[in-house]
Order: sequence, then structure tokens, then C-alpha cells
Amino acid sequence: MRFRFTARLALLAAVLWGVAASHLQAQTISISIDAKAAPRVEYGAQRLIDAMKSAGIDAAITHSSPMTGPAIVVTKVSGDAGEHFSIESNPDKSIRITGSDDSGELYGCMELARRIAESKTLPGDVHFSDGPAFKLRGPCIGMQKTYILPGRHVYEYPYTPELFPFFYDKQFWTEYLDFLADNRMNTLYLWSGHPFASLVKLPDYPYALEVPEDVFQKNTEMFRWITSEADKRGIWVVQMFYNIILSKPFAEHNGMATQLAAPNPLAADYTRKSIAEFVKQYPNVGLMTCLGEALQGIPNQKEWLCDVILPGIHDGMKEAGLTAEPPFVIRDHATDLRLYMADALKVYKNIYTEAKFNGESLTTWEPRGKRQQIALDLSKLGSTHVMNVHVLANLEPFRYGDVDFIKKCVQAGRDRLGAKGLHLYPLFYWNWPDSPDEVDPPLKQWKRDWIWFEAWARYSWNPDIDDATDHAYWIGRLTDMYGSKEAAPNILAAYIDSGECAPRILRRFGITEGNRQTMSLGMTLDELTNPDKYHAFEELWESQSPPGERLQEYVDREWAHQPHVGETPPQIIKEVLDFSKKAVEEIDAAGASVTQNKDEYHRLQNDVHCIRAMSEFYAAKASAAMLVLRFAHSHDIADMKKAATFLAESVEHYRALTTLTENTYRYANSMQTSQRRIPVVGGVDGKPANYLWSQVLPVYEKELADFQKKIETGGEQAVDVQPLAKASITVIGKDAETYDVKVGERVFTDQDDTIEALAPELKGLTGIRFKSGKYVPVEFETVEPVKVLVGYVQSKDAGWLQPPNLETDAQAVERGDTEPLIQNAATISHLPAVNIYAMKFDAGRHTLDLHGEGSFVVLGVIPQSASVARRDAKLAGH
Ligand code: SER
Repeated sequence: MRFRFTARLALLAAVLWGVAASHLQAQTISISIDAKAAPRVEYGAQRLIDAMKSAGIDAAITHSSPMTGPAIVVTKVSGDAGEHFSIESNPDKSIRITGSDDSGELYGCMELARRIAESKTLPGDVHFSDGPAFKLRGPCIGMQKTYILPGRHVYEYPYTPELFPFFYDKQFWTEYLDFLADNRMNTLYLWSGHPFASLVKLPDYPYALEVPEDVFQKNTEMFRWITSEADKRGIWVVQMFYNIILSKPFAEHNGMATQLAAPNPLAADYTRKSIAEFVKQYPNVGLMTCLGEALQGIPNQKEWLCDVILPGIHDGMKEAGLTAEPPFVIRDHATDLRLYMADALKVYKNIYTEAKFNGESLTTWEPRGKRQQIALDLSKLGSTHVMNVHVLANLEPFRYGDVDFIKKCVQAGRDRLGAKGLHLYPLFYWNWPDSPDEVDPPLKQWKRDWIWFEAWARYSWNPDIDDATDHAYWIGRLTDMYGSKEAAPNILAAYIDSGECAPRILRRFGITEGNRQTMSLGMTLDELTNPDKYHAFEELWESQSPPGERLQEYVDREWAHQPHVGETPPQIIKEVLDFSKKAVEEIDAAGASVTQNKDEYHRLQNDVHCIRAMSEFYAAKASAAMLVLRFAHSHDIADMKKAATFLAESVEHYRALTTLTENTYRYANSMQTSQRRIPVVGGVDGKPANYLWSQVLPVYEKELADFQKKIETGGEQAVDVQPLAKASITVIGKDAETYDVKVGERVFTDQDDTIEALAPELKGLTGIRFKSGKYVPVEFETVEPVKVLVGYVQSKDAGWLQPPNLETDAQAVERGDTEPLIQNAATISHLPAVNIYAMKFDAGRHTLDLHGEGSFVVLGVIPQSASVARRDAKLAGH
């Protein structure tokens, strides 16, 4: 409201001073900036000139203080507060813009330019000052694709014109960077697994370059151009890289994998020199790192950071003649930074930390639990902590503009997590810059999702704008967009109400906040009733959700007549049905008065209807799931019959969602690889992942038919489980031996833990046993492709190896299962229950490396081609 109110005042002043105003238009206004003004101050002054031109006012930049006549004087008064500015008009009608630094001057100029463009005159009376709440504010661009390149692994994408045409498109960058500057964003992150071999050449490793020479030349030219254009707009470019990821030619030349779980001296030398060269070549570009996912274990991560990466920056600084340490950002992902930040700070002072806000989704403005604690601990290190609104796996692919939700999230980032920076993902990350809408040519994401970017930017500048002022502001923006004051409040309300649904659905019913789940494609009944079978990720409901009950917990308490605690499934069902119903009414009511951007209005309207159908689908299916879970207590077939009715209803809603998306969306999700597991596994054996509703509808239709049949035939038929075929392997070395998997056998060489009961499919297989405790990697040889059946003991105690999490180890899916193949597969004396996950190996000699620490057992080896029915063998542990 503050801006609009002031603008109206300006308009009034201009009318009152009509003579003065017309007089002004006849003259040239001097914009005085320092002769040595930074490029961003010049850019700001140029934006002022453009705005004045659009208002019919002539203006020109001067480098001396104008003695007479109307003028705008841009100066600096250095202060502690970065990026602050004030705009003051004087009685002589000159205007003084004062910045606390170059960015302050830039933002002062842009604010005045905005007011001039809006009111079409120079404001007569302005006294305004402002500054940001968050020190870093900006989005990222994934230099990544929706698919994995042939012969490569996750995150490995060299910078080439074929893969990233936008990177070489100056028109794109100019528009996008102007958009960021308009929103006072001051950071832009580029994400890549290993950017160095596309951007620097190393004299010691000339063969490591991953792109042809002409592409390399273009890359360096573009990278310099982009970073200097960004700098002109007050934007700091930060290049992100993962560890340990190496250049493919470097890895092949040296007989290594491209992704390493542990350091080795050659990889360390190559990485240190890559970083040094990068700092030397691009001294104004920031670096950001993720110490996982490939790199495993705190000691390895600490060593890699303190002995390789940070010294690499110092080497580069020396060569570039830099005396001040450039800021360096470290992500707390697939690691626990708290365990070695003190060591890192001894080596390098200027470190920023960053952690995800709600994991890889948007679920709550009340982050809590373990993830909250991590963020708070990092924020207390004294450096700047940045909240990362990461992949939006539960919002894809629809538009999102719940500005109230977003504002509360920024407040939560500041107040609950201690953040002073925002790092924002686009809504369709893996497919930048195109949106998923079925529109030709594709819509650009920052244009389609302008309200997403603008809202996060607005609140990271000022999270405390009161709701009334704020809503008036957004109504103004939506009026500009859709040409109607009548339509705008309804459109805003529809954005807000529809935006309340996806966060609630995922946090109460989902398996994970991670990329692994595409929420808009729905969930199977089994996923809702047996989430453990799908490796449910507890951070979703323990950190990224308000306190509450999951489906099983709710049903158990209800059955036992116990009181409920926090948010419950029926409450969420009601809320998402209410919100989505209102949203549909609001968006439909706006239609008649929209006069501009009608196509986009219809697309937004369709999205709101999709969110309604999706909410109805989840409401019906969660209701069915509660009845199925109740049946386990009641054994009353009436529960199953009621469940069947809800299930049938859910299929109808899903069919409606499929119809609504049929001609409007190219994809439901932006990552279409085998890392997608929920609702159905996709991308396996080179097949595309499931990315469309029409691909999943038959799964739900069959599920319903099977369920109805089960009720008619009176329940499940007993399954006759046969032993699996066994593969033969030879264990090499003295540390491990094979054994016959059967009751009475020991599972370790040094303990008397013996098999007491066994799932029938495992009987007679050849297992591998070794010492419990610290694992010495087992070497083995096989003549055929095999799956090793690894038993994970279901205990969180530090001594036990934990199953792989795709949330923190994206490559795990290439090695084998990321959900249990057989749950509760054996009872072993002294041990908790055991879940089996299969790991794949080709014929040949291998090391059984499980990426992590702690004990595990091996309960057999089978041919890779063997088909195993995923199931729960229900053998309890001790
Ligand atoms: N899950 C990956 C990460 O957090 C990619 O988004 O880095």
C-alpha cells in the first residue's frame, strides 16, 4: 500500500502543479551520478531515463552536480545497512537519491523509475526510504535436464548449446536479469554436478575438458557476459557444484568412476586445481557446494572441504590477486555441516550456510523438529544462513500464487530458522526455462510464474507487510495483468485458496517431501495404507509438517477411543475440500470481467480446477485408506465395502483430472528419471518415467477392479511363495565367507546371531557373512548379472547400516532398490526385524560397497533376471 499510496499522492501533486509539470516536460532533466559510478548505478540511471522517456520527459546522465534546473542527484552515504536507499524531493523540485552502497543507489533509481512509469510524471513531493530484510535474495537455474544423459549419471550435464540453448541466448538473459532486478533479487545460482570441465582448462589435465574447443570458447565468453550483465543489475552469480563429481574424460582417463564416495589424491588434485582456476578466471563469481550426495561419511566430507575445496579457493585468490575471501556457500544436504563447520571456519572465514526450507516440497510455514534445529544451529554460527526453497515436488506442474502462504514461509525462515537469505527454486526446476503447459512455443517459466517469483522476492525484502496493504498491492498487480478491477480480487482469492491444498495433502498423506514423489499423479491405496513399504521419509511429517497424525495413527487411536493430537486426516480432508471448492468458485466468478491475457486466465482457471480434482481424489482415497486400516481392527466387511465406494469415487476424480490435463499439460513432473518412485516407478530400463495422468489412470482403474473383486471373493487368496533361484558367486579374500541361508545358520562370522525363521523365497540361497561391527568391504565374483539381497536391520541405532535414501543419495537407484523388496524377511536371534533391499551387479568382479556405515546381513544372491514379488513376509524381530 505504501508504494501505491505515495504514487497517488504524486499524481495529485502533479495535477496541482500542472504548469510546473508541463514546464518540466519541455526541459531535459539531468541525472547526476558519480564519474566513477559502478555499472549497476549506471544501469539504475538508465532505467530512470527509460521511465522518463515513457512519460514524455527528456533526461540525460551527467557526471557533475547540476547547478541549476530540475535534476535527480544520485549519491552514496556509506552505512552499515547494505542496499538501503532514500528518495527525497527538495523545495527546488530536485530529487536526491541516496544509497548506502552501489546497490542502494541502484534500487533508489529503480524505485523512482517505477513511480515515474506509473504516474507518468516526476513526483513532486517524495520522502521515502527502504532497505531489505534479507541479505541474499534470488532464484536458481538448473543446468540440468529432465532425463539422465546416456552413459552418464545423475547431475552430470556439460554446458553445451544442444543441452542448454538458453545459456547462449543474450535476449533471454537480458529479459530474465531485468525481471530479477525489477524484483530486487540480488543472487542467481546456477546448479551443476561438475561445471568446471565446461568452464576452465587446466594445464595439468588438458584432457579433462568436457566440451569441444569452440563450445569452451563460447562458454567462457557467455559466462563472463552473463556475470557482468548480472552485476550491472546488482546480481551476484553463484556457481553450485556437487561432490565428488569429476569430469567424464578425466575419470575415464584415470580409470575412476565419475562420482566418488571417498576422496583419492588424484581426484583431490584435479578438484583443487579446477576450483583455483575457476576463481582465477571468474573472480567475481561465487561458488556454492554440496558435499554429498556421492561423497559419503562425515570424515570424508570434512577432509574434502577443508583440504581440497577451501585451499583451492585460496590458491585461486592468490593467482587472481584477490585479498579478501569471496563468499562461499555450503549446503547442508546429505551431510551434517554442524559437525565440521568449526574446522572449516579455521581454514576460511567467509562462509555462508544453506539448508532446505521444506525439503523438496512446500508443506508448511511451521518447520520444526530436526530440520528446524539444524537451520537454527547453522544460523548461530555468525555467518549468513540461507533458506532454500528447493524443488517443489508437490506443487508441480500447476501455477502457485498463494501469497499469504509464501509470506508466512519467509517469516518462518527468519523467525523459526534464523535465515537472512532466500534461495528460490522455480516451480518446474528440471525443465528450465520452459513451463510444462501444452503451449507452442512453450511459455517461459518466469513469465508464467511471475507471481511466484515476485511474492518470494517481495517478502524477502520485507516479510512484515500487513495483509490489507499487501492484498491491495496484489490486486493492483492482477488488475494490470487481467485488465479488470472486478476480476482481480477473485483471482487473488483463487490463488490463495488453491495454494492451501497441495501443502496439506502432502504433509498428511505423502510418502516423502522429495523428488521421488510426484504428488499430482496421486498415490496408490497401498502407498496410503502401507507407507513403510515405500520407504516413507519421516522428515516429511516430523520436520516439514505441523504436529499431527498420519493415517495409521489416526485410525488406531480412533479405534482405541484415544484422544487425537494435532492435525488429523479428516481435518485435512475437510480443509482441502473447502479450500479447493472456494477457489473454483472464485476463479470462475472472475471470468466474465477479464479483459486482458484471457488465454492465461483460462490456463490459470484450468489449474484451479485441476487442484480441485486432485484434492477430491486425495480426499476420497484417504477416506478409503482409513476404512481399510479400520478393517484390520474391525474385521467388518462393511468397512471394506465403504472403502470400495470411496475408492471408486477417487478414480472418477482422477479421471476428471486426466481429462483436465489431457490437452493442457505436457508433463506432470519436471524430473522424469528412475528416481521417480511414487506413485509408480518409472524410468526403468530406459523406459520413460510416468509423467502423465493418462499413464497412471489404468493403474488406479485396475486397483479398483482388484479391490472390488477381493471383496466379492471374500478377501485375499493365500499366496504360494516359492524359493527363488539361486545365483552362484565366489567370495574373494579371508574376511567373508558364503553360507546356506536356512534356519539355524549364523549371519555373522563373529556372533551367534542365527536365523530362527525365514521367508520361504530365501530358503536355500547362498548368503555372505562377515564380521559384525566395522564393515570391511567384501569382494566377490559372479559369472552372471546378480542381485545381492541385503538385509537392513530395522533399527536407527548407530551400529546398523541405514537403507539408502533417494532424498540424499540420488545415485542409489542405479545401484539397486530404494524401497524394501521383502519387508520383515527373517527372524534372527537378538536382532530387530530385517528388511531386504536388492543391489544389482553385472557379471565380473565387484566390491560390495553399501555407501554408509554400520552392520548389515546378506541373505542370498539371485540372478538379476529373477522376478521377485514385493511383499511383507511379516516375520517379527526381537
Ligand atoms: N535432491 C537434490 C539436492 O538436494 C536435487 O535437487 O541437491
